[in-house]
Amino acid sequence: MRAKLFIVIIIGMILLMRLAQSGQSKPEEQDVNWVLLNSAFEGATFVGDTKQCLMCHEVDGFMAKYNETAHAHMFNHPRGSLEAVNCESCHGPRSQHLYDYDVSLAIEPEKYSIVCMQCHKGAERIHWSASLHKTAEVGCVSCHTLMEKRSPQALLSAQSETQLCSGCHMDVVAKTMRNFRHPIQEGKVECSSCHNVHGSPGKGQLVKGNINETCYGCHQDKRGPFIWEHSPVRDDCMTCHDPHGSNNMSMLVTQSASLCVSCHQYGGHINQYRYNRVSTPYGNGCINCHVTVHGSNHPSGAKFNR
Ligand code: HEC
Ligand code: HEC
Ligand code: HEC
Ligand code: HEC
Ligand code: HEC
Ligand code: HEC
Ligand code: HEC
Ligand code: HEC
Ligand code: HEC
Ligand code: HEC
Repeated sequence: MRAKLFIVIIIGMILLMRLAQSGQSKPEEQDVNWVLLNSAFEGATFVGDTKQCLMCHEVDGFMAKYNETAHAHMFNHPRGSLEAVNCESCHGPRSQHLYDYDVSLAIEPEKYSIVCMQCHKGAERIHWSASLHKTAEVGCVSCHTLMEKRSPQALLSAQSETQLCSGCHMDVVAKTMRNFRHPIQEGKVECSSCHNVHGSPGKGQLVKGNINETCYGCHQDKRGPFIWEHSPVRDDCMTCHDPHGSNNMSMLVTQSASLCVSCHQYGGHINQYRYNRVSTPYGNGCINCHVTVHGSNHPSGAKFNR
């Protein structure tokens, strides 16, 4: 009995892995119930002929603009029935619309997400259904524009990622202009270097499961292991840093000396005034001597001064 169950589980896992892999190469097409999205689709069938649509819609270089998008490129050489119907893969079966052309078949913006997920369920969007954006009714078309290529990457609605996010997260984008910050304006780090806006398993929509793993992705030297660990570093980089930017050196959440003193009363040296004197008000304070605050691998680095 147990052995059988085991085999069934293994086969199930293999099938699931296959599914996940196939989602990456060619998007898997899923059915969508158009009538549920808009009851006016009742009884409609696919026309499957872009030329018919263009008889009425080719105004203001409409098609030339659309032809620059990744979708037009792909759908001109269709690999499946959905891609073959081109426009209708997103706009639904439109047989009636050819004669009764109005806006009755329009789809509400939030509902487009279901349409897009016909083909984009896999890869980066496997956690979409539980993502904070979806929950807040920020759908695919809040961030992507489909009928023309407005940005160099990913059909974003704005010129750049930062511009896109600033529309709704101005407070965060403002921090990226502070004195100490990640090189976001320079384009070396993007919001999406740390966040998967399409959803992630952990909190904060971070690309990795938690904060520290996200940081280690680029700051491997901070991962350790160290002979002498500084426990707050292991716990959470954000205890001391604001990754969006800060006016304190090294993006520290407060000025370096007061930061240390918030946990180490009397600067850690109760009766050693000579240390305290040099520390608090001047220069970099504590880290003048405690140079390896992230942890030390020196045999005698227990006090992080080597
Ligand atoms: C006979 C002319 C005609 C043809 C053919 C036609 N349309 Fe339209 N379409 C219109 C008109 C008119 C509107 C309404 C425009 C408005 O009021 O803004 C419209 C609106 C739309 C809209 C926006 C509103 C909505 O329903 O979502 C879409 C999308 C659309 N058409 C797609 C298509 C597609 C896809 C085809 C080909 C299968 C097609 N149309 C063929 C005339 C036509
Ligand atoms: C990948 C999905 C997708 C494909 C493919 C697609 N559209 Fe659209 N279309 C959209 C979305 C989403 C909108 C809503 C506005 C926007 O984001 O641009 C839209 C808007 C429109 C509108 C309304 C424009 C307006 O200004 O109100 C028309 C008309 C239209 N599409 C026609 C077409 C035609 C014709 C084709 C094929 C040549 C086509 N679409 C292919 C997703 C798509
Ligand atoms: C019929 C299948 C299909 C549908 C429906 C569809 N897409 Fe796509 N999409 C593709 C394919 C194929 C590509 C190109 C290959 C890839 O990047 O996976 C693509 C690429 C993209 C890209 C990357 C473009 C680039 O320039 O890198 C974005 C963004 C995107 N789709 C968003 C959407 C959104 C938003 C919707 C719904 C409004 C949608 N797609 C609907 C199949 C589809
Ligand atoms: C909050 C804004 C936002 C929302 C909502 C959003 N996207 Fe994106 N999308 C982005 C950004 C930014 C990128 C480029 C960075 C990246 O790849 O993560 C992107 C990239 C993509 C790409 C190309 C890269 C890839 O993952 O293959 C596709 C396809 C895509 N989005 C589809 C979708 C679909 C489908 C939805 C809705 C289910 C959606 N997006 C919702 C912002 C958004
Ligand atoms: C270097 C990594 C990194 C970059 C780059 C980054 N973030 Fe964050 N972001 C984080 C971390 C870590 C959190 C905290 C998550 C948590 O507390 O769970 C966070 C939290 C957030 C939050 C929620 C809490 C808050 O502070 O309001 C938003 C919104 C946000 N980021 C948006 C953005 C935007 C927009 C950009 C691009 C301008 C961006 N982030 C760039 C790492 C980053
Ligand atoms: C159309 C508005 C809109 C756009 C555009 C948008 N967001 Fe959001 N975002 C929201 C809303 C609403 C929430 C959920 C409520 C909240 O926590 O602020 C959210 C939540 C988040 C969170 C999680 C916050 C948390 O509390 O943990 C992050 C991270 C985030 N967004 C990053 C981004 C990034 C990066 C971009 C640009 C690529 C972006 N958003 C674009 C509206 C938007
Ligand atoms: C996509 C890669 C990437 C990720 C992920 C990343 N960083 Fe960075 N970080 C950088 C780059 C690039 C710099 C600038 C290095 C330079 O200028 O030499 C930097 C610089 C820093 C600095 C020094 C800033 C200064 O003013 O000197 C701190 C502190 C920092 N990162 C903390 C973090 C934290 C905390 C996280 C996780 C929330 C994180 N980083 C995630 C790439 C990344
Ligand atoms: C106890 C507070 C504290 C914690 C927690 C902390 N840091 Fe730091 N970090 C500092 C201080 C103080 C500096 C400035 C002194 C220096 O350059 O070492 C700094 C500097 C940095 C720098 C820039 C200089 C360098 O060493 O490259 C990076 C990058 C950095 N931290 C990343 C991280 C990462 C990633 C984490 C989480 C694994 C983290 N920090 C956790 C206090 C902390
Ligand atoms: C969030 C609280 C917190 C902050 C902020 C913090 N530390 Fe610590 N630190 C600790 C803890 C907890 C230990 C481990 C204490 C122990 O093992 O007794 C420690 C250990 C140390 C030790 C070794 C002490 C020993 O007894 O072996 C030194 C030195 C030290 N920290 C210096 C610093 C400096 C310098 C800063 C500022 C850059 C700083 N700490 C910021 C919590 C913090
Ligand atoms: C002039 C160099 C210097 C400065 C500045 C300095 N320290 Fe120290 N600190 C030391 C030395 C050396 C030791 C080791 C003393 C020992 O082994 O008895 C030490 C030990 C410590 C310890 C461990 C105490 C213990 O009981 O073992 C802590 C915690 C500490 N320092 C925190 C701080 C903080 C917080 C600041 C800033 C307010 C600071 N130090 C500034 C040199 C300095």
